Amino acid sequence: MRMSLIVAAALMAQPLAAQTNVVQPNPRARLFVARGCSECHALELLNVKAKTDVGPDLSSAYVDVPTRYGVTLERFFDEPVGIMRVILAGHVQLHRTDGDSLVRLFRDLYNEHVARLDSLVRQARPVETSPKASEPRRRT
Ligand code: HEC
Repeated sequence: MRMSLIVAAALMAQPLAAQTNVVQPNPRARLFVARGCSECHALELLNVKAKTDVGPDLSSAYVDVPTRYGVTLERFFDEPVGIMRVILAGHVQLHRTDGDSLVRLFRDLYNEHVARLDSLVRQARPVETSPKASEPRRRT
């Protein structure tokens, strides 16, 4: 009796769990999630929600880290500063190859973001100019 109640409860809970997790993280974020980064960081560009928003969203880490800390992201993972120094020395371990893979991921995300902005600017241009302005000038 008790067993069947547990099974029934588990079956009822299943669709609920599926509903609360509507947006699936992008598979490209697998390493990021597997290494525990999403415990504290979101990665909005890849639909990753943070368990606790303790750290900043890392979608633009590739440019944020040099701006904030004056070091490249490669260097930051080799010699982390601030809170991440404590975290990477503690329960979150990052192998060199993991660091390289994450740097590549953050760099790709940044480049894709810039490319997207660039194409938006390009598309907007014809709207700003009159049709006549784009015609070659005639000499009189
Ligand atoms: C226990 C929480 C926690 C975990 C887990 C964690 N971080 Fe952090 N991380 C932080 C906090 C908090 C900061 C902000 C530090 C500060 O402002 O001094 C931060 C900052 C960073 C930054 C600098 C971003 C910026 O713009 O300042 C990077 C890059 C980063 N973390 C990468 C990672 C990666 C990659 C992982 C997984 C391997 C990870 N973190 C796991 C809490 C965490």
